[in-house]
Amino acid sequence: MTTETDHGVGEAVAARIERRWAILSIVIVGVLVGMATFIGIHQATMPQGRVETSDPRTLHLSGEFVESNLGSTLEADGSVTVRAIGQQYSFTPQCIVVPAETPITLRTTSADVVHGLLIEGTNINTMLVPGYVAELPIRFKAPGEHVMPCQEFCGIGHQGMWGKVKVVDKAAFAKLAAARRRLTCVD
Ligand code: CUA
Repeated sequence: MTTETDHGVGEAVAARIERRWAILSIVIVGVLVGMATFIGIHQATMPQGRVETSDPRTLHLSGEFVESNLGSTLEADGSVTVRAIGQQYSFTPQCIVVPAETPITLRTTSADVVHGLLIEGTNINTMLVPGYVAELPIRFKAPGEHVMPCQEFCGIGHQGMWGKVKVVDKAAFAKLAAARRRLTCVD
């Protein structure tokens, strides 16, 4: 049989437990907010682990992104490296040719302002920032054609800035690569 005093004690215990849980949940929220704040500030203030730079003023004169070095190259390990640049208002090369079923490394940068590079039907979507190299891995399952529009407003000719990616059969690419060191499908 419960008495008045028992009732009072029970209520006091319940209130104490409730308070403990309330404090615990506030602490959890506090820790999560603290973590989010730390990560946000850390990412915004610390440089990325790996940043590659390029000089847009000398891009065409020397180094990796001179015109003769742009296009697709078959590497010794069987992978393909594609080098391309964006400028107002085109991509060079305008048409990129790559093999299917092959690991591809896309290396791009901008010669002037910020452009965007998007390859339709893939998850490739990057900004081309002058002064920085954007490197992305791609792999195409099957031959086909993909449009490659500039997806970042870059000036008056932005909507006319389009490229194309032509994915060909692996054997066909090997044949092309045997004849030339840098490949494009620009006619
Ligand atoms: Cu280049 Cu928009």
